[in-house]
Amino acid sequence: MQLGLTKEGKMWLGVLVVLLLCSSLEGQESSFTINSVHMVILPKQEVQNGENLTLQCIVDISTTSHVRPQHQLLFYKNDEQFYNVSSMKSTESYFIPQARVYHAGIYKCTVILNNKVKTTSEYEVMVRGVSSPRVTLDKKEAIEGGVVIVNCSVPNEKAPVHFIVEKVELDTKGIKQKREKSSQHQNFVTLDFTVEEQDRVIYFLCQASIISGRHLETSSTTRSDLVTVRESFSNPQFYVHPAGVIIEGDLLHIKCIIQVTPMVQAFPEIIIQRDKTIVGHSKQGNEATYSVMATMKENGNYTCKVETSQISKVSSIVVNITELFPKPKLESSATHLDEGGSLNLWCSVPHTVDFAIQKGDMNVSRAQNFTKTVSKWDSGNYTCVAGMGKVIKKSNEVLITVCEMLSRPRIFYDSTSEVIKGQTIEVHCQSINGTMPISYHLLKASNIVENYTVGSNEPAVFKDNPTEDTKYQCLADNCHSSSAMFSEPLVVKVIAPVVEVKLAILNNKQVESGDDLVLRCFVNKASGPITYKFYREEDVRPFYVKISNETQAMWYKSPAGTEQGGQYYCTASNRANPAKNIPKSNLLTVRVFLAPWKKGVIAVVVIAVIIAILAVGARYYFWKKAKAKQMPVEMSRPAAPLLTSNNEKMPGSSTEANRPYGYDEDIGNHETNPVKEKKEPLTLDVEYTEVEVNSLEPHEENGRLP
Ligand SMILES: *[C@@H]1O[C@H](CO)[C@@H](O)[C@H](O)[C@H]1NC(C)=O
Ligand SMILES: *[C@@H]1O[C@H](CO)[C@@H](O)[C@H](O)[C@H]1NC(C)=O
Ligand SMILES: *[C@@H]1O[C@H](CO)[C@@H](O)[C@H](O)[C@H]1NC(C)=O
Ligand SMILES: *[C@@H]1O[C@H](CO)[C@@H](O)[C@H](O)[C@H]1NC(C)=O
Ligand SMILES: *[C@@H]1O[C@H](CO)[C@@H](O)[C@H](O)[C@H]1NC(C)=O
Ligand SMILES: *[C@@H]1O[C@H](CO)[C@@H](O)[C@H](O)[C@H]1NC(C)=O
Ligand SMILES: *[C@@H]1O[C@H](CO)[C@@H](O)[C@H](O)[C@H]1NC(C)=O
Ligand SMILES: *[C@@H]1O[C@H](CO)[C@@H](O)[C@H](O)[C@H]1NC(C)=O
Ligand SMILES: *[C@@H]1O[C@H](CO)[C@@H](O)[C@H](O)[C@H]1NC(C)=O
Ligand SMILES: *[C@@H]1O[C@H](CO)[C@@H](O)[C@H](O)[C@H]1NC(C)=O
Ligand SMILES: *[C@@H]1O[C@H](CO)[C@@H](O)[C@H](O)[C@H]1NC(C)=O
Repeated sequence: MQLGLTKEGKMWLGVLVVLLLCSSLEGQESSFTINSVHMVILPKQEVQNGENLTLQCIVDISTTSHVRPQHQLLFYKNDEQFYNVSSMKSTESYFIPQARVYHAGIYKCTVILNNKVKTTSEYEVMVRGVSSPRVTLDKKEAIEGGVVIVNCSVPNEKAPVHFIVEKVELDTKGIKQKREKSSQHQNFVTLDFTVEEQDRVIYFLCQASIISGRHLETSSTTRSDLVTVRESFSNPQFYVHPAGVIIEGDLLHIKCIIQVTPMVQAFPEIIIQRDKTIVGHSKQGNEATYSVMATMKENGNYTCKVETSQISKVSSIVVNITELFPKPKLESSATHLDEGGSLNLWCSVPHTVDFAIQKGDMNVSRAQNFTKTVSKWDSGNYTCVAGMGKVIKKSNEVLITVCEMLSRPRIFYDSTSEVIKGQTIEVHCQSINGTMPISYHLLKASNIVENYTVGSNEPAVFKDNPTEDTKYQCLADNCHSSSAMFSEPLVVKVIAPVVEVKLAILNNKQVESGDDLVLRCFVNKASGPITYKFYREEDVRPFYVKISNETQAMWYKSPAGTEQGGQYYCTASNRANPAKNIPKSNLLTVRVFLAPWKKGVIAVVVIAVIIAILAVGARYYFWKKAKAKQMPVEMSRPAAPLLTSNNEKMPGSSTEANRPYGYDEDIGNHETNPVKEKKEPLTLDVEYTEVEVNSLEPHEENGRLP
């Protein structure tokens, strides 16, 4: 190719190279800078709704080049780009015809030149006012109770928009109803307005408000077309018959009538009310009636209400009925009477009328007066009925209470068996007859201890815990004027169990043999009969048993012998003591010693015996000595019979006679134990010696224990 280049071709190539070099030299040399950029808002930053608005971005650029550089301009509203343009001009504009609220905001513009970027400060644009709303209606004619749909819109604006719609009566210019509604996504609202019964010609007003930044912009008020309202039915009208004065007993007719517009399909409901009470009504037709015989009760303010679901029309009339005769008055001589008392009732009306005095629904008298001797059945409510022709009037009620006298109260208690001390008993009091309520008082030893009022003829129940024999009595009282009634006295026997037993000896603990031995078993306080049992310590069975109503029992032994010495105890119980737990007394030690004269006798006897033995011994010695001389083989008689005969004589009193009363044979059997019998006087001879001098000395008084 290079070989193929012509001279001319070479020349063009050189020019091109020069041009390229030149241009590259020029590009490298020319320099740009953005001096400033700012915006101009026309006509000004705050414009009225509907004004034309122009946003200008003005750039000042310095350059070494001859040619103005191409730069880019970006327009922002609230930091969002909405327009960009590439330009070589120093001013670029953005035109908004007829500015609306939604055009308000913060504007700025940015210039980009090669790598250089510069942004203006922020410009707040405000749009004042809202364009006028439009109001349209779905109809120009409406019926009472009907609905008018109102459409209010601001076609030039954007949601959200807040609307205020008002219903206005043309005649009065009064605002009948005001409604507000915000539309979030549309620039219109539709609202239903009910046509009320007082509406004649109406129109609607609408106003729109939009929030623009920190400001609330409000439109002017737009008025709708007129709506003509037609009645669905007329105001109700009352007709009262008879016209003029109405007297009790007359037939009263009250009628309420309305006129209904032919185009209305259903009849409204007609209601006649006297004060709050509905006395007549109709759902079909154009009237309601109320017919009744006139009485004072029919006096009052009558209201006729005509109602559909939406509207209600009311009118009222006062009906004044003239009284034929006043209400009778029933009086009584007394309202609380005793049975047998005289009841006198009389009925009064300042007119000549027929009377009947009634108790409940029963006629008790056809006269004005009623007198009776009462029984309890005559209690009740009495009224008087007065009549003239068809007019019958009832008097006030008089409540008569006849009080029946109480029967003598019965008193009884629940326990079938005897009452043990500490046990709780229920004492019942009951008056079979007599008007309730009855108040019972329980008397214990003539003092009131408890009160109880019963509302029936059932017994009153009192609980008590008697500790000793107690006399109860009841007192019953009711409305009767006589004084309270006493019952018979009720004596409740209380058995006190034996708690403590003691055994004592009535004289000294040391008893001389031959004296009386008296043991006394006694208890604190217990009810009779009490079973006393006397025991010797070592014995299982008592040697003496006594049943007594006394709080003590005695056991006598006279005269006492030395064999009565020993330890004693006793038990005492009555039927209130459980068999397993019978109280036992202390252990009492009794000693019986021989009287000094007995000791003397014994000593004498012993000495006599010794003398006798000595005498016998001596005699025997001499006899043996003599026999040894004469008959050395003859046997001698033993001395034992002498000793035995002595022993048998001495304790003779202590065998049968000394045995205590009720003493068991096997316990004190002296005959089966002759050795013991023999030994006793011998071993105890020093201490016990009977002397006949000191016989029954009446120590009982001194020795009696407390
Ligand atoms: C607003 O701009 C429109 C063109 O968009 C023009 O016809 C109108 O005359 C302008 N109004 C005012 C008041 O300048
Ligand atoms: C300029 O606007 C056009 C469309 O109008 C868009 O495609 C382009 O990205 C915008 N340029 C910049 C720099 O935002
Ligand atoms: C209310 O009127 C606006 C125009 O004024 C219309 O766009 C809109 O659909 C209407 N709304 C209804 C529910 O008719
Ligand atoms: C009767 O009742 C109506 C409704 O309650 C009331 O508007 C009216 O004033 C009353 N008339 C009289 C005389 O009380
Ligand atoms: C009813 O009528 C009587 C006379 O017949 C009159 O004295 C009285 O004031 C009237 N009452 C009312 C509430 O109108
Ligand atoms: C009670 O007396 C009245 C008035 O005399 C009479 O109308 C009524 O029928 C009587 N009632 C009875 C239950 O006898
Ligand atoms: C009825 O009783 C009252 C009062 O006790 C007495 O004044 C009146 O005269 C009596 N009337 C008759 C008709 O008995
Ligand atoms: C009597 O009437 C009063 C109220 O009117 C009522 O409370 C009472 O129970 C009545 N007594 C009798 C015994 O009917
Ligand atoms: C209670 O009254 C009846 C009659 O009402 C009588 O037969 C009876 O004897 C009375 N009882 C006593 C305890 O008074
Ligand atoms: C019982 O009633 C009488 C009189 O009603 C009264 O004096 C007495 O204090 C009452 N006793 C008790 C314990 O409530
Ligand atoms: C004990 O007293 C009762 C009555 O109090 C009597 O019936 C009984 O005979 C008495 N017993 C003795 C043993 O005296």
